[in-house]
Amino acid sequence: MQPALTFGNYQAHFVDTLQQLEAHEVWQRQPFTIVLVDSNTRAYCLPRLMELAVFQDALILEVPAGESTKNLDMCEHIWESLLAAKAGRDAVLVNLGGGMVSDLGGFVAGAYKRGIPFINIPTTVLAMVDATVGAKTGINLGGVKNSIGLFNEPEAVFFHLPFLETLPHEEVLSGFAEMLKHALLSGQEHWDALVAVGPEGIIANPELIIRSLKVKQAIVGQDPLEQGIRKTLNLGHTIGHALESESMRLGKPLLHGHTVALGMVAELWLSMQILGFPQKDFKAVSNYLLGLYGSFLNIDLSLDNLAELVGNDKKNRSKQFSFSLLQQFGKPEYNCNVSREQLLEALVYLRGSL
Ligand SMILES: NC(=O)c1ccc[n+]([C@@H]2O[C@H](COP(=O)([O-])OP(=O)(O)OC[C@H]3O[C@@H](n4cnc5c(N)ncnc54)[C@H](O)[C@@H]3O)[C@@H](O)[C@H]2O)c1
Ligand SMILES: [Zn+2]
Repeated sequence: MQPALTFGNYQAHFVDTLQQLEAHEVWQRQPFTIVLVDSNTRAYCLPRLMELAVFQDALILEVPAGESTKNLDMCEHIWESLLAAKAGRDAVLVNLGGGMVSDLGGFVAGAYKRGIPFINIPTTVLAMVDATVGAKTGINLGGVKNSIGLFNEPEAVFFHLPFLETLPHEEVLSGFAEMLKHALLSGQEHWDALVAVGPEGIIANPELIIRSLKVKQAIVGQDPLEQGIRKTLNLGHTIGHALESESMRLGKPLLHGHTVALGMVAELWLSMQILGFPQKDFKAVSNYLLGLYGSFLNIDLSLDNLAELVGNDKKNRSKQFSFSLLQQFGKPEYNCNVSREQLLEALVYLRGSL
Protein backbone atom coordinates (compact mmCIF):
# COMPACT_ATOMS: atom_id res chain seq x y z
CA MET A 1 0.00 0.00 0.00
CA GLN A 2 1.22 3.53 -0.83
CA PRO A 3 1.87 5.86 2.10
CA ALA A 4 -0.89 8.42 2.65
CA LEU A 5 -0.36 11.97 1.38
CA THR A 6 -1.21 14.84 3.71
CA PHE A 7 -3.20 17.83 2.47
CA GLY A 8 -4.04 20.47 5.07
CA ASN A 9 -5.86 18.69 7.90
CA TYR A 10 -6.72 15.54 5.96
CA GLN A 11 -5.01 12.64 4.26
CA ALA A 12 -5.36 10.96 0.88
CA HIS A 13 -5.11 7.16 1.28
CA PHE A 14 -4.40 4.66 -1.48
CA VAL A 15 -6.38 1.48 -0.83
CA ASP A 16 -5.68 -1.72 -2.76
CA THR A 17 -8.86 -3.28 -1.41
CA LEU A 18 -11.91 -1.36 -0.32
CA GLN A 19 -11.91 -3.22 3.00
CA GLN A 20 -8.97 -1.01 4.01
CA LEU A 21 -11.32 1.92 3.98
CA GLU A 22 -13.25 0.49 6.93
CA ALA A 23 -10.30 1.07 9.24
CA HIS A 24 -10.84 4.84 9.23
CA GLU A 25 -12.10 6.29 12.50
CA VAL A 26 -14.74 8.45 10.82
CA TRP A 27 -17.25 5.59 10.69
CA GLN A 28 -17.28 5.32 14.50
CA ARG A 29 -17.55 9.06 14.98
CA GLN A 30 -20.17 9.61 12.25
CA PRO A 31 -22.38 6.51 12.20
CA PHE A 32 -25.02 7.87 9.75
CA THR A 33 -23.49 7.34 6.31
CA ILE A 34 -24.93 9.02 3.23
CA VAL A 35 -23.48 8.22 -0.18
CA LEU A 36 -23.83 10.68 -3.05
CA VAL A 37 -23.54 9.06 -6.48
CA ASP A 38 -24.44 9.93 -10.03
CA SER A 39 -26.20 7.49 -12.32
CA ASN A 40 -22.90 6.05 -13.63
CA THR A 41 -21.10 5.71 -10.33
CA ARG A 42 -24.23 4.12 -8.90
CA ALA A 43 -24.05 1.47 -11.61
CA TYR A 44 -20.27 0.97 -11.80
CA CYS A 45 -18.83 1.87 -8.40
CA LEU A 46 -21.48 1.71 -5.70
CA PRO A 47 -21.97 -2.10 -5.81
CA ARG A 48 -18.33 -2.59 -4.73
CA LEU A 49 -18.77 -0.17 -1.84
CA MET A 50 -22.00 -1.80 -0.72
CA GLU A 51 -20.11 -5.01 0.02
CA LEU A 52 -18.58 -3.27 3.04
CA ALA A 53 -20.24 -3.51 6.47
CA VAL A 54 -20.00 0.26 7.10
CA PHE A 55 -22.24 0.91 4.09
CA GLN A 56 -24.93 -1.64 4.85
CA ASP A 57 -27.39 0.93 6.24
CA ALA A 58 -26.20 3.89 4.19
CA LEU A 59 -28.66 6.29 2.62
CA ILE A 60 -27.96 6.47 -1.13
CA LEU A 61 -28.64 9.74 -2.93
CA GLU A 62 -28.42 9.63 -6.71
CA VAL A 63 -28.17 12.66 -8.99
CA PRO A 64 -28.06 12.67 -12.81
CA ALA A 65 -24.58 12.31 -14.37
CA GLY A 66 -23.16 15.38 -16.08
CA GLU A 67 -21.89 18.88 -15.39
CA SER A 68 -25.37 20.45 -15.61
CA THR A 69 -26.22 18.69 -12.33
CA LYS A 70 -23.77 20.97 -10.48
CA ASN A 71 -26.44 23.61 -9.82
CA LEU A 72 -28.39 25.23 -7.02
CA ASP A 73 -31.63 23.30 -7.66
CA MET A 74 -29.73 20.07 -7.13
CA CYS A 75 -28.28 21.39 -3.86
CA GLU A 76 -31.78 22.18 -2.66
CA HIS A 77 -32.95 18.72 -3.67
CA ILE A 78 -30.10 17.08 -1.72
CA TRP A 79 -30.61 19.33 1.33
CA GLU A 80 -34.31 18.42 1.35
CA SER A 81 -33.43 14.72 1.15
CA LEU A 82 -31.01 15.10 4.07
CA LEU A 83 -33.67 16.88 6.13
CA ALA A 84 -36.26 14.22 5.26
CA ALA A 85 -33.81 11.52 6.41
CA LYS A 86 -33.20 13.51 9.62
CA ALA A 87 -29.47 13.65 8.94
CA GLY A 88 -27.80 15.54 11.75
CA ARG A 89 -24.39 16.04 13.27
CA ASP A 90 -23.82 12.28 13.33
CA ALA A 91 -23.86 12.16 9.51
CA VAL A 92 -21.00 11.83 7.03
CA LEU A 93 -21.49 12.42 3.31
CA VAL A 94 -19.45 10.14 1.03
CA ASN A 95 -18.92 11.57 -2.44
CA LEU A 96 -18.49 8.57 -4.74
CA GLY A 97 -17.77 9.86 -8.21
CA GLY A 98 -15.90 12.27 -10.36
CA GLY A 99 -15.30 15.96 -9.82
CA MET A 100 -18.94 16.82 -10.42
CA VAL A 101 -20.05 14.69 -7.46
CA SER A 102 -17.24 15.86 -5.15
CA ASP A 103 -17.67 19.55 -6.03
CA LEU A 104 -21.43 19.34 -5.49
CA GLY A 105 -21.27 17.08 -2.44
CA GLY A 106 -18.51 19.05 -0.73
CA PHE A 107 -20.50 22.25 -1.16
CA VAL A 108 -23.76 20.69 0.02
CA ALA A 109 -22.00 19.23 3.09
CA GLY A 110 -20.40 22.59 3.90
CA ALA A 111 -23.69 24.44 4.08
CA TYR A 112 -25.99 21.74 5.52
CA LYS A 113 -26.60 22.55 9.20
CA ARG A 114 -23.49 24.78 9.07
CA GLY A 115 -21.35 21.89 7.93
CA ILE A 116 -21.27 18.11 8.18
CA PRO A 117 -18.13 16.06 7.49
CA PHE A 118 -17.57 14.49 4.08
CA ILE A 119 -15.31 11.89 2.49
CA ASN A 120 -14.22 11.83 -1.14
CA ILE A 121 -13.85 8.60 -3.09
CA PRO A 122 -12.79 9.73 -6.58
CA THR A 123 -13.70 7.46 -9.47
CA THR A 124 -12.25 9.43 -12.40
CA VAL A 125 -8.64 10.30 -13.22
CA LEU A 126 -9.52 13.98 -13.02
CA ALA A 127 -11.09 13.64 -9.60
CA MET A 128 -8.07 11.65 -8.37
CA VAL A 129 -5.37 14.04 -9.48
CA ASP A 130 -7.27 17.25 -9.00
CA ALA A 131 -10.89 17.76 -7.96
CA THR A 132 -11.04 15.74 -4.71
CA VAL A 133 -7.84 17.12 -3.22
CA GLY A 134 -7.30 20.78 -2.49
CA ALA A 135 -10.62 21.47 -0.70
CA LYS A 136 -12.31 23.52 -3.40
CA THR A 137 -16.01 22.76 -3.70
CA GLY A 138 -18.79 24.50 -5.56
CA ILE A 139 -21.45 24.72 -8.23
CA ASN A 140 -22.14 26.64 -11.43
CA LEU A 141 -24.57 29.57 -11.52
CA GLY A 142 -25.82 31.74 -14.38
CA GLY A 143 -23.63 29.91 -16.88
CA VAL A 144 -20.47 30.78 -14.92
CA LYS A 145 -18.40 27.80 -13.83
CA ASN A 146 -17.79 27.31 -10.11
CA SER A 147 -19.10 30.78 -9.34
CA ILE A 148 -20.59 29.70 -6.00
CA GLY A 149 -18.42 27.67 -3.69
CA LEU A 150 -16.52 27.09 -0.50
CA PHE A 151 -13.07 26.03 0.54
CA ASN A 152 -14.11 22.96 2.51
CA GLU A 153 -11.75 20.16 3.53
CA PRO A 154 -12.87 16.53 3.40
CA GLU A 155 -12.25 14.21 6.37
CA ALA A 156 -10.25 11.96 4.08
CA VAL A 157 -9.86 10.94 0.45
CA PHE A 158 -9.64 7.28 -0.62
CA PHE A 159 -8.08 6.29 -3.93
CA HIS A 160 -8.98 2.88 -5.30
CA LEU A 161 -7.53 2.64 -8.80
CA PRO A 162 -9.68 -0.30 -10.01
CA PHE A 163 -12.60 2.14 -10.12
CA LEU A 164 -10.94 3.61 -13.21
CA GLU A 165 -11.40 0.39 -15.20
CA THR A 166 -14.93 1.33 -16.27
CA LEU A 167 -14.11 4.91 -17.15
CA PRO A 168 -14.71 5.82 -20.84
CA HIS A 169 -11.55 6.74 -22.77
CA GLU A 170 -12.56 10.38 -23.34
CA GLU A 171 -12.90 10.76 -19.56
CA VAL A 172 -9.42 9.29 -19.07
CA LEU A 173 -8.20 11.87 -21.59
CA SER A 174 -9.93 14.62 -19.64
CA GLY A 175 -8.06 13.71 -16.45
CA PHE A 176 -4.83 13.23 -18.38
CA ALA A 177 -4.99 16.93 -19.33
CA GLU A 178 -4.70 17.92 -15.66
CA MET A 179 -1.77 15.52 -15.32
CA LEU A 180 -0.09 17.20 -18.29
CA LYS A 181 -0.69 20.55 -16.59
CA HIS A 182 1.01 19.27 -13.43
CA ALA A 183 3.94 18.12 -15.54
CA LEU A 184 4.28 21.53 -17.22
CA LEU A 185 4.35 23.11 -13.76
CA SER A 186 6.92 20.67 -12.42
CA GLY A 187 9.47 20.15 -15.21
CA GLN A 188 10.41 18.65 -18.58
CA GLU A 189 11.34 15.25 -17.17
CA HIS A 190 7.84 14.85 -15.69
CA TRP A 191 6.31 15.89 -19.03
CA ASP A 192 8.46 13.37 -20.93
CA ALA A 193 7.48 10.57 -18.52
CA LEU A 194 3.80 11.24 -19.12
CA VAL A 195 4.09 11.56 -22.87
CA ALA A 196 6.07 8.29 -22.98
CA VAL A 197 3.17 6.44 -21.37
CA GLY A 198 0.27 8.40 -22.89
CA PRO A 199 -3.32 8.43 -21.63
CA GLU A 200 -3.69 4.69 -22.32
CA GLY A 201 -0.92 3.90 -19.84
CA ILE A 202 -2.23 5.81 -16.84
CA ILE A 203 -4.14 3.04 -15.11
CA ALA A 204 -1.18 0.67 -15.40
CA ASN A 205 1.21 3.31 -14.02
CA PRO A 206 -0.29 4.55 -10.77
CA GLU A 207 3.02 6.17 -9.84
CA LEU A 208 2.21 8.84 -12.45
CA ILE A 209 -1.06 9.59 -10.65
CA ILE A 210 0.87 9.86 -7.40
CA ARG A 211 3.47 12.10 -8.99
CA SER A 212 0.73 14.38 -10.22
CA LEU A 213 -0.87 14.48 -6.78
CA LYS A 214 2.46 15.43 -5.25
CA VAL A 215 2.71 18.45 -7.54
CA LYS A 216 -0.72 19.58 -6.40
CA GLN A 217 0.08 18.77 -2.77
CA ALA A 218 3.28 20.85 -2.81
CA ILE A 219 1.55 23.88 -4.33
CA VAL A 220 -1.65 23.76 -2.26
CA GLY A 221 0.40 23.15 0.90
CA GLN A 222 2.13 26.51 0.43
CA ASP A 223 -1.03 28.43 -0.36
CA PRO A 224 -4.29 26.67 0.56
CA LEU A 225 -6.56 29.69 -0.04
CA GLU A 226 -5.08 30.71 -3.40
CA GLN A 227 -3.60 34.03 -2.42
CA GLY A 228 -0.47 33.47 -4.48
CA ILE A 229 1.34 30.42 -5.84
CA ARG A 230 -1.79 28.22 -5.96
CA LYS A 231 -2.93 30.42 -8.84
CA THR A 232 -0.30 28.65 -10.97
CA LEU A 233 -2.58 25.58 -10.92
CA ASN A 234 -4.94 27.65 -13.07
CA LEU A 235 -2.65 27.25 -16.07
CA GLY A 236 -4.96 26.61 -19.03
CA HIS A 237 -8.05 27.28 -16.94
CA THR A 238 -8.71 30.96 -17.61
CA ILE A 239 -9.30 30.32 -21.30
CA GLY A 240 -10.35 26.71 -20.59
CA HIS A 241 -13.26 27.82 -18.38
CA ALA A 242 -14.39 30.27 -21.06
CA LEU A 243 -14.36 27.46 -23.63
CA GLU A 244 -16.24 25.21 -21.22
CA SER A 245 -18.93 27.84 -20.52
CA GLU A 246 -19.27 28.76 -24.20
CA SER A 247 -19.59 25.11 -25.24
CA MET A 248 -22.29 24.64 -22.60
CA ARG A 249 -24.15 27.72 -23.83
CA LEU A 250 -24.06 26.34 -27.38
CA GLY A 251 -25.48 23.03 -26.19
CA LYS A 252 -22.33 21.06 -27.11
CA PRO A 253 -20.63 20.76 -23.74
CA LEU A 254 -16.94 19.93 -23.76
CA LEU A 255 -15.29 17.98 -20.95
CA HIS A 256 -13.37 19.99 -18.36
CA GLY A 257 -9.96 18.49 -19.14
CA HIS A 258 -10.41 18.86 -22.89
CA THR A 259 -11.04 22.59 -22.47
CA VAL A 260 -8.10 22.90 -20.09
CA ALA A 261 -5.82 21.23 -22.65
CA LEU A 262 -6.97 23.64 -25.37
CA GLY A 263 -6.80 26.53 -22.90
CA MET A 264 -3.17 25.54 -22.25
CA VAL A 265 -2.37 25.82 -25.97
CA ALA A 266 -3.68 29.41 -26.01
CA GLU A 267 -2.09 30.26 -22.66
CA LEU A 268 1.29 28.82 -23.65
CA TRP A 269 1.08 30.96 -26.76
CA LEU A 270 0.61 33.94 -24.38
CA SER A 271 3.49 32.59 -22.29
CA MET A 272 5.72 32.63 -25.36
CA GLN A 273 4.76 36.24 -26.20
CA ILE A 274 4.84 37.63 -22.67
CA LEU A 275 7.31 35.53 -20.66
CA GLY A 276 9.52 34.17 -23.41
CA PHE A 277 8.46 30.51 -23.07
CA PRO A 278 10.85 28.81 -25.56
CA GLN A 279 9.39 28.49 -29.05
CA LYS A 280 10.62 24.92 -29.60
CA ASP A 281 8.98 23.76 -26.37
CA PHE A 282 5.80 25.59 -27.34
CA LYS A 283 5.74 23.76 -30.67
CA ALA A 284 6.27 20.35 -29.08
CA VAL A 285 3.77 20.86 -26.27
CA SER A 286 1.05 22.46 -28.37
CA ASN A 287 1.40 19.83 -31.13
CA TYR A 288 0.98 17.10 -28.54
CA LEU A 289 -2.04 18.81 -26.93
CA LEU A 290 -3.69 19.59 -30.27
CA GLY A 291 -3.11 16.01 -31.44
CA LEU A 292 -4.92 14.60 -28.41
CA TYR A 293 -7.61 17.24 -27.86
CA GLY A 294 -7.94 19.42 -30.99
CA SER A 295 -10.70 17.35 -32.56
CA PHE A 296 -13.00 17.88 -29.56
CA LEU A 297 -13.28 21.59 -30.21
CA ASN A 298 -16.20 21.32 -32.62
CA ILE A 299 -17.92 24.58 -31.69
CA ASP A 300 -17.94 27.82 -33.63
CA LEU A 301 -15.64 29.97 -31.50
CA SER A 302 -16.97 33.48 -30.98
CA LEU A 303 -13.92 35.45 -29.86
CA ASP A 304 -16.00 38.27 -28.35
CA ASN A 305 -18.06 35.85 -26.27
CA LEU A 306 -14.92 34.11 -25.07
CA ALA A 307 -13.20 37.39 -24.14
CA GLU A 308 -16.35 38.40 -22.26
CA LEU A 309 -16.32 35.08 -20.39
CA VAL A 310 -12.64 35.48 -19.51
CA GLY A 311 -13.64 38.85 -18.03
CA ASN A 312 -16.13 37.07 -15.76
CA ASP A 313 -13.41 34.85 -14.40
CA LYS A 314 -13.08 35.18 -10.61
CA LYS A 315 -9.38 35.99 -11.03
CA ASN A 316 -9.94 39.15 -13.07
CA ARG A 317 -10.56 42.15 -10.90
CA SER A 318 -9.87 44.92 -13.41
CA LYS A 319 -9.89 45.53 -17.15
CA GLN A 320 -6.51 43.84 -17.57
CA PHE A 321 -6.83 40.08 -17.63
CA SER A 322 -4.82 38.20 -15.05
CA PHE A 323 -3.30 34.88 -16.12
CA SER A 324 -1.06 32.17 -14.76
CA LEU A 325 1.58 31.55 -17.42
CA LEU A 326 4.82 29.63 -17.84
CA GLN A 327 8.31 31.06 -18.26
CA GLN A 328 9.69 27.64 -19.03
CA PHE A 329 8.97 24.02 -18.00
CA GLY A 330 8.66 24.02 -14.21
CA LYS A 331 8.77 27.82 -13.91
CA PRO A 332 5.22 29.16 -13.62
CA GLU A 333 4.26 32.76 -12.86
CA TYR A 334 0.94 34.11 -11.65
CA ASN A 335 -0.79 37.51 -11.82
CA CYS A 336 0.55 38.06 -15.34
CA ASN A 337 -1.22 40.96 -17.02
CA VAL A 338 -2.68 40.23 -20.43
CA SER A 339 -4.38 42.89 -22.55
CA ARG A 340 -7.60 42.25 -24.44
CA GLU A 341 -5.64 42.46 -27.73
CA GLN A 342 -3.20 39.78 -26.57
CA LEU A 343 -6.07 37.59 -25.40
CA LEU A 344 -7.83 37.92 -28.76
CA GLU A 345 -4.58 37.09 -30.60
CA ALA A 346 -4.17 33.95 -28.49
CA LEU A 347 -7.73 32.90 -29.30
CA VAL A 348 -7.14 33.60 -32.99
CA TYR A 349 -4.03 31.41 -32.79
CA LEU A 350 -6.00 28.59 -31.13
CA ARG A 351 -8.83 28.80 -33.66
CA GLY A 352 -6.36 28.85 -36.54
CA SER A 353 -4.46 25.79 -35.33
CA LEU A 354 -7.49 23.49 -35.17
N1 LIG B 1 -12.64 21.25 -6.91
C1 LIG B 1 -11.60 21.26 -7.69
O1 LIG B 1 -10.48 21.60 -7.29
C2 LIG B 1 -11.76 20.83 -9.11
C3 LIG B 1 -10.63 20.61 -9.90
C4 LIG B 1 -10.82 20.16 -11.20
C5 LIG B 1 -12.09 19.94 -11.67
N2 LIG B 1 -13.16 20.16 -10.88
C6 LIG B 1 -14.53 19.90 -11.35
O2 LIG B 1 -14.64 18.52 -11.61
C7 LIG B 1 -15.63 18.31 -12.62
C8 LIG B 1 -15.07 17.40 -13.67
O3 LIG B 1 -14.71 16.18 -13.06
P1 LIG B 1 -14.82 14.80 -13.81
O4 LIG B 1 -14.10 14.90 -15.09
O5 LIG B 1 -14.45 13.75 -12.85
O6 LIG B 1 -16.36 14.79 -14.22
P2 LIG B 1 -17.63 13.95 -13.77
O7 LIG B 1 -17.73 13.85 -12.30
O8 LIG B 1 -18.76 14.58 -14.49
O9 LIG B 1 -17.33 12.48 -14.34
C9 LIG B 1 -17.20 12.28 -15.72
C10 LIG B 1 -18.15 11.17 -16.24
O10 LIG B 1 -17.63 9.92 -15.83
C11 LIG B 1 -18.66 9.17 -15.17
N3 LIG B 1 -17.95 8.30 -14.23
C12 LIG B 1 -17.36 8.66 -13.08
N4 LIG B 1 -16.69 7.62 -12.57
C13 LIG B 1 -16.88 6.58 -13.39
C14 LIG B 1 -16.40 5.25 -13.42
N5 LIG B 1 -15.55 4.79 -12.49
N6 LIG B 1 -16.79 4.44 -14.43
C15 LIG B 1 -17.61 4.92 -15.42
N7 LIG B 1 -18.06 6.17 -15.46
C16 LIG B 1 -17.69 7.00 -14.47
C17 LIG B 1 -19.56 10.22 -14.59
O11 LIG B 1 -20.83 9.72 -14.34
C18 LIG B 1 -19.55 11.26 -15.69
O12 LIG B 1 -20.45 10.88 -16.70
C19 LIG B 1 -16.00 19.69 -13.14
O13 LIG B 1 -17.21 20.04 -12.54
C20 LIG B 1 -14.88 20.56 -12.64
O14 LIG B 1 -15.28 21.90 -12.47
C21 LIG B 1 -13.01 20.60 -9.61
ZN1 LIG C 1 -9.16 21.74 -13.84
